[in-house]
Amino acid sequence: MVDLPRLAQDRAHAHRYAIISDETVAELYARGICEAMRTRGLDADLFTFPPGEASKTRETWTRLTDAMVEHGFGRDTAVVAVGGGVTGDLAGFVAATYMRGLLLIQVPTSLVAMIDASVGGKAGVDVAAGKNLVGAFHPPRLVLVDPLVLRTLPRRERAEGLAEAVKHGAIQDVTYFESIEASAASLLEADHVRVSELVVRSVAIKAQIVTRDERETGVRKILNFGHTLGHAVEAATGYAQSHGYAIAIGMVLEARVGEMLGITQQGTARQLSDLLARLELPATLPAGVSAGDVFRHTRTDKKRRADRGQYILLRRIGDVAEGDNWTHDVPDDLVRQVLHTP
Ligand SMILES: NC(=O)c1ccc[n+]([C@@H]2O[C@H](COP(=O)([O-])OP(=O)(O)OC[C@H]3O[C@@H](n4cnc5c(N)ncnc54)[C@H](O)[C@@H]3O)[C@@H](O)[C@H]2O)c1
Ligand SMILES: [Zn+2]
Repeated sequence: MVDLPRLAQDRAHAHRYAIISDETVAELYARGICEAMRTRGLDADLFTFPPGEASKTRETWTRLTDAMVEHGFGRDTAVVAVGGGVTGDLAGFVAATYMRGLLLIQVPTSLVAMIDASVGGKAGVDVAAGKNLVGAFHPPRLVLVDPLVLRTLPRRERAEGLAEAVKHGAIQDVTYFESIEASAASLLEADHVRVSELVVRSVAIKAQIVTRDERETGVRKILNFGHTLGHAVEAATGYAQSHGYAIAIGMVLEARVGEMLGITQQGTARQLSDLLARLELPATLPAGVSAGDVFRHTRTDKKRRADRGQYILLRRIGDVAEGDNWTHDVPDDLVRQVLHTP
């Protein structure tokens, strides 16, 4: 592990450190980090919660902030989020709100958290009406990535993260897309060198986009490629289909939408589905989910107007079609047609 105590001391100095982690990652890494910080003479405490999306709630936020109050944590505290995207979003929201805002250090341990959740400053929790509906922008002071921790991450979870990396290549960098293709097998095995290169490139792509548009009024929207239909797939399965798998399907479907409109180069959907297959990710609707179910869930998208949905479309791999402030209005009929074509 990188020398976190020294980096925390130098780059995010605080009187006390509140380390937040889910129970799985706490046993693997966060407890050790807490010990190492104490050995270095830093005042550190560990707060944990049960793993999984079900913990990303106001209730967990309440428990964590109450515990911090009880332990007498003041303004001069840094929150250290050690874990996947759930921990990052939740601990980030604690940091954004506790005493009106604390320093935040992100130590992402899943691939999703390394290349997506820890970049861009979004934090928050889910509510009954939907995911991430209560939150804040609260950028971390420091993000520490050690790709070696991915060795303990289940293979399926690595594939989840790789779906977002494919998206980064698809919207921005064909060479990167091809490099993922060339090293698909080693990436799934968490090969240290290949994964390090991937994290560096994906973080650079996402960081460069969110720096241009922190509040998502313009170019940041392109990060939603694959997500309009991906979210509909997630919702249609009652969130049984995980996010990475759903957006893999969403990217292929949205590329087909673009091809039908003549905006996306023919063959792009095929390039995507070939790469996704090598990454053990799906490209077609899961069993038991009908095209009609998915279509119905596109209609709850907040950004849509009348009988049209809003989509990010590619021109080709590595290149997004600009459209009207990056989005394209696509008639429902065309989307329905794509969903119904196997
Ligand atoms: N803020 C953002 O911009 C942003 C972007 C993308 C995703 N997210 C959020 O991230 C969440 C998904 O993130 P996730 O996929 O990392 O989920 P997660 O945090 O639930 O982690 C997935 C599972 O892997 C385990 N785990 C994590 N690291 C491990 C390791 N090194 N070894 C062994 N097990 C490990 C966790 O305990 C958990 O069971 C969602 O809530 C999503 O909304 C946020
Ligand atoms: Zn996503």
